[in-house]
This record gives sequence, structure tokens and C-alpha cells, in this order.
Amino acid sequence: MTTSSAPGKIILFGEHAVVYNRPALAVPVTQVCATVNVSSHSRSGIRISAPQIQLHSTLTALPTQHSLRMTLEVILKNLNISLSTPLQIQITSSIPVASGLGSGASVSVALIRALSAYTGTSLNDDKVNQLCYETEKIHHGTPSGIDNTVITYARPVFFQRGQPIETFQVQHPFTIVIADTGIYAPTRESVGDVRKLWQSNPSHWESVFNEVGQIVQRARQSIEAGHWQELGTLMDMNQRLLQEMTVSSAELDHLVVCAKNAGALGAKLSGGGRGGNMIALVHPENADEISAALLSNGARHTIITAIK
Ligand code: PMV
Repeated sequence: MTTSSAPGKIILFGEHAVVYNRPALAVPVTQVCATVNVSSHSRSGIRISAPQIQLHSTLTALPTQHSLRMTLEVILKNLNISLSTPLQIQITSSIPVASGLGSGASVSVALIRALSAYTGTSLNDDKVNQLCYETEKIHHGTPSGIDNTVITYARPVFFQRGQPIETFQVQHPFTIVIADTGIYAPTRESVGDVRKLWQSNPSHWESVFNEVGQIVQRARQSIEAGHWQELGTLMDMNQRLLQEMTVSSAELDHLVVCAKNAGALGAKLSGGGRGGNMIALVHPENADEISAALLSNGARHTIITAIK
């Protein structure tokens, strides 16, 4: 049997604008993960079990448009694994689906690593990343590539489409509270809606994306220098631009205000938006209190994570 796990992720700055070639910052979240076990099976054909979603099926019995089937077909084809190979694939995940924590990319990375190890194919991180990107197209339509990158390398990344991948070391750790609205929000839809806005007025949105790009550059400097007050202000600025892109929501805005009222240095949505998760930059000693405030104001659950 081979097993592989991959973490979740959050985008700290720059979601959506990253699709239009501006930089973004993302970090892994190791408190949640997806795990894949691959073992042999006595009968021919690939069997999948994902107990959390009550899925127990052969691959070919799943509807052709099922995202797991589509993901696996891309991976199996690239790894030269035939659909008749007698394999049992078990998938478990603690990453909420469609909530901006990278669940799709994390399952893909764990599948790619577990299946390639099972067949004795050695894939370096760059290859895993490329293949995961192919599967991301199923979830996102026009993915920037940030999710597969941060999850494959499991390091903080400064990501810009078409540029060499820059992972970086956080010299001064900082604390983020992640809060889930519990609202299911497919990234494909918010990405598609931002594209419609951009198509209707490219010059306006290009300048909004430029502003986001500048915020991301300044955020990287603030992280490197440990300037948390400024980093918080930059989060607030990024959130205002995300609101303008129409990808926030009443629930996300409410949690952002709650976090700020409870003492967060800055707060914003993270990922595709419209639902899913928001993040708040906090002093570590206030993290529990801010997390409690978010929970009592409608957050389904929270994660306190130290970024290092
Ligand atoms: O997977 P999510 O919801 O964290 O969103 C990814 C970030 C976007 O910028 C909205 C899309 C992309 O492909 O970069």
C-alpha cells in the first residue's frame, strides 16, 4: 500500500487578480489535509472509496462529469495506468470542499503522489505541480496555478503566472485565524463573473488588478520585515478591492467586521470568495478571543494557524 497526504492552503493576498498575471501570496495550512491510500484489489478495475462523502464505487460507474472521475482520468492517463488495473483508492480529507482552502488541489496532489509511488514512477515536485495544474482546470476553468503550487511545494509562495516559482521563508512567524462561513461557493463561478466584469471594462479592471498587485508586493515586504500593523492595513485594502470585484458576500463582510471589532489587525476573504473562508491577521495572544468572536457571529468553524 502507498499513502500520501497534502496540506490545505490559504491565499493571503492577490486572489482573482492572480488570474490576470498579477502576483499573489499563499501559504500551506497544515492543520488540515487530504490523504490517499492506494492498494491492490483482487478484481480488475479501479475502485474508489471516499467514506466522508459516502462514495464507494468503481471509477467507470461514476458519472462521466463527476469531478473525481475527471480528476482521476487525467492523472491515470498521465501516469500510464490503465483503467483495468486492480486498484483500491481510498480518499479522506479534513479540508472543507469549495471553501477556499484548496481541497481539490490537495486531493489531486495526494492522488498523484500515492499513485505514482504505487506504480514505482518517481515524479519530482515540478512534475507533480504540472499534473495537478491539469486537474485544477476541472475545478476552476481558468486556474492561475497558485493552488497547485502552494500545495505541491507545501511552502509559502510568491506566485505570478508564467514566472519561476518563488517559495520563501517567513523570518518572523505571524498568526492567522481562518473562519469558515459554511457557504458552498464554487471558485469557477466567481472566477467566471470577474471575467465578465473585466470583459465589460478591461481598462478599469486592469487598474484594479494593478492596485492588488502593488498591495501584494508591499505585503511581501511587510512579511519580510515583520511589520504586522502594515500587513493588516494591506489586508483591509485588498478586501475592499475584492468587494469591488463582487466576490465578497454579506456573510464574509460580517465576519471581517467581527474580526476587526474583536481586535484583528486586518481581515479579508481568502480564495474564490462569495462564501468559503475569511482570514484575519491577529496578535497571537488575541487569537483565541478573536476565534471565539467569529464563532459566536456565525462562523461554522475556525482554525488558528501560525505562518512560518
Ligand atoms: O481555490 P480557491 O477558491 O482558493 O481560489 C483560487 C484563487 C483564485 O484566484 C480565485 C483563482 C485562481 O485560479 O487563482
